[in-house]
Parts: sequence; C-alpha cells; structure tokens
Amino acid sequence: MNLRMGVFGHPIGHSMSPAMHNAALAEVGLQGSYGAYDIHPEDLEEAVRSLREDQFRGVNVTLPHKVNVMPFLDEISSDARTIGAVNTIVQENGRLIGYNTDGQGYLDSLLTESGEELKNKKVLIIGAGGAARAVAVSLLKYGVQVLAITNRTMSKAKEIARICEPVGPVSVLPSTIAQANLTGFDVIINTTSIGMAPDIDRMPFSLETLKRDSIVSDLIYTPLKTRWLQVAENKGAKTINGLGMFINQGAIAFELWTGRKAPREKMKQTVLDALKKQEAPK
Ligand code: ATR
Repeated sequence: MNLRMGVFGHPIGHSMSPAMHNAALAEVGLQGSYGAYDIHPEDLEEAVRSLREDQFRGVNVTLPHKVNVMPFLDEISSDARTIGAVNTIVQENGRLIGYNTDGQGYLDSLLTESGEELKNKKVLIIGAGGAARAVAVSLLKYGVQVLAITNRTMSKAKEIARICEPVGPVSVLPSTIAQANLTGFDVIINTTSIGMAPDIDRMPFSLETLKRDSIVSDLIYTPLKTRWLQVAENKGAKTINGLGMFINQGAIAFELWTGRKAPREKMKQTVLDALKKQEAPK
C-alpha cells in the first residue's frame, strides 16, 4: 500500500511537516509520501474533493483553513467540534473525517516535559485565538483545578469561555489583573505569536510577579527559546517551548493515518535539524 498524505495551507513554504512525516514513514518502513500543498482559500472545496479522487489517506490542515474546511467533511470528531477547528483529515472508505490533534498534542507535551501531574494546578492561558481554544478544551477535559484566560481583546476570551462551558469553567481576566496576580497561577501558557521570529525581542506578558517554581510554556518554537521563556528561566521557572506540541500533533495524526506508533524521537530530531538549517547563514 502506498500512503498519500500532505498538508493544506496558504502560504505553506516554511512548513516542517513534510520533512517530519517523510522521515517518520521511512523510520517505520511504510511506503508513502507527504507533500505540502499551497491551497488558496477559494480553491479549498475543490482541493478537499480531490482527496477522494486521488485516494489520499489524509492531510493536515493549517492556517488559514482550519475552520473553513469543516463544512466540506463527512464527519467531525467530538474534540474538533468543541474546539471549532480541524487540523487533520482521515479518509475511511471514501468518507472524510475531521480531527483536531493540536490540543491533545499540547497536553501530551506539557505532561511529558513538565514531568508533573497537573490536576491540582491553576493554569493561565494568554491569547484567545485558535491555538488557545485547542489548549483550553484539552486542559479542561484532562481536568485542571483552575483555568483562566487573558487576552488583549476581552470579547474573544469570553467567547472561548462560552464554547468551553459544556466541558468546564473558564474565568476571563483582564491582562492587568492577570499580570499583577501571577502568584495565583502554577502554569502560564503563551498562545499568541508575540516573540516569534523575526520579532524576537517582543514579550507577550510581564513576568514580574512570577513565582519561582512555576511552569511557563510558549507555543512558539521559532526561536526554540523565546525571550519570554528566557526571562521565565532566569526567574527559576521550568520552561517548555512549542516544539513538543508540534511534534505531538503530527505524531497523533500519523497514528490516525497509519495505525502505527509514531517515531516521536526521529520526528523531533528531523525538525531540529531542519530548524538548524534554516538558522544557518546562507
Ligand atoms: P492562532 O489561531 O494561531 O491562535 P490567532 O487567531 O491569530 O492565531 O490568535 C492570536 C492571538 O494572539 C489572539 O488572541 C491575539 O489577540 P487579539 O484577540 O486581541 O487579536 C493575540 N495577539 C496577537 N498579536 C498580539 C499583540 N501584538 N498584542 C496582544 N495580543 C496579540
């Protein structure tokens, strides 16, 4: 069997997914290929239809298609429905099923890399975009003690609290209140793009009142250590970057497509090598 897979996005040029998945296929000895497809929003419906005609096993879906792709699918998993976005499509007997592996991917990385049980933790999420939704739903399903969200635009944080209602309670805090009360939180997660290359000097949030033994996590992985994570580390926090989330969301998708355990170490090494290559002076 020759497995056909890929990623739909726009733009798609810098995606690390093809390198990561092709290395994973080779590592477990499966025949197949994973390509990057630059799909303009106007062409999305046609591109989804071609998955059936061209007998794809599945694709990842990235920005800006994660929400707009949903009406073109035959079935949506309950997680993806709650999050309101799909990042993975699997084709089963001609039916296209949408999943969201971002939230579970993030949770797996937080649990593994912190090495801690998180049920008794008070967690603060910064930002209220699609990534924040996935992270919030997964943390609530796992069951943390307190979940709060802060965002520049309060209405978007309130909207996340509303969609999360069936899963669990989320409190919405203005940034000034959250920043002044960081001692009230054990885990602080940045889901915004502030601090991502090339704007590496920017910080999403002041960490002045951070307690020493906090866990501080940034979904960004370019750079691997954002300025914000560096400040947190200097203050004695345990820091976790976004690489684990990226690897795990891909690994869970790989497992849905192939039914095989994803070679996470190989995938991580491949992405680290690709990142190093990107950083090297041309
Ligand atoms: P994604 O879907 O990847 O999470 P997104 O929907 O663009 O991305 O969400 C980005 C988040 O980062 C949003 O919460 C955004 O704040 P707003 O809701 O106020 O727009 C936040 N964000 C991005 N740039 C920001 C900035 N310069 N200052 C404060 N917040 C910012």
